[in-house]
Amino acid sequence: MKLVCEEASLLTARMKSFRLMPVSDTDIMADNALPGEYFVFNFDNGDNNSLQRCYTLVSAEQGKFYEFIIEDRGAGSASNVISRLLQQRKEVNISGRGGNITFNTIKNKKNVLLIAGGVGITLPMALIRECFKSYGYSAPGVFVQLILSCHDLGSVPCLNELLDLHTQCGWFSMRIHVTRVRLDKSSDFVRAGRIDLSIDEIKGVPESAIVCGGADFAQSMVTAVSTRFPQALIAVEAFSSGRSLDHIVESDTHKKEITLKSMGKVISVDSGLTVLDNLISHNVSIRNMCRSGICGSCKFRLHSGEVRSEPDFCLSAKDKSEKIHLACCSFPSENAVIDII
Ligand code: FES
Repeated sequence: MKLVCEEASLLTARMKSFRLMPVSDTDIMADNALPGEYFVFNFDNGDNNSLQRCYTLVSAEQGKFYEFIIEDRGAGSASNVISRLLQQRKEVNISGRGGNITFNTIKNKKNVLLIAGGVGITLPMALIRECFKSYGYSAPGVFVQLILSCHDLGSVPCLNELLDLHTQCGWFSMRIHVTRVRLDKSSDFVRAGRIDLSIDEIKGVPESAIVCGGADFAQSMVTAVSTRFPQALIAVEAFSSGRSLDHIVESDTHKKEITLKSMGKVISVDSGLTVLDNLISHNVSIRNMCRSGICGSCKFRLHSGEVRSEPDFCLSAKDKSEKIHLACCSFPSENAVIDII
């Protein structure tokens, strides 16, 4: 399916909302695209490097528009390329969708805890908007609380909208933890310092917790939630560290080689890119969906050499003992011999 940008609006210094319209029919979005799902954007960085990135659908009107929030990580990053292409009204190809955290995940839950770090706010934002569509201002017996960690208030997209909901909806409250600026005053919705779930106040006992953010943040929050609320069902959307995942500038000093054993193919790779991005840029076919270490579709076996792997959410101890890695969470650190599984 191809989408083109109908409207772009600046939300923060680095984040923009893109309202996209379909320009061709396809099955990918025809079948009820649900806010909270992620969509696989395929685009070219201008040097014939094809890139794929996943972005969360924040809101939609079926067949009419699809809204995504994208953080531009600056020159040389994939997010900078896609932001530019969208603003130039270039058509962007969507090749797949995934993710299963939507309003359906939380709609029958009485107490829901949403925890987000930085740009991880996009999925909670999608869920909160869907809650508002369904509940309006009042939903007796339902409580949704958002805890967001960010550098400063200026980096929070849709802050006014969240504040409106916080002050007007009985079912919603939020607290923002600001980590990089000093605050002279705290209020009921903003605090200085990191989230500490061992002591931070949480209303009631959450039945369901949804954690969204970078892999390290997500892993620490999952541990903290499961320690404090062992009965809570936890769902996670995590992504690899932005710089490594998003950086597409090549440097000769980064060059390594990956040998694809059963294909008999050797490719020159960049250690600043994931194994997945390296394989895709050499037109090596490899299944992938979430690009966040969740779906497990991009497994490969490391026969020799080394890769640097970031935390993931799906490999078992057995997988790891058998030297199975995820291409979306691994970076070439030495020459390596692998096979895609
Ligand atoms: S693409 Fe989903 S785990 Fe790698």
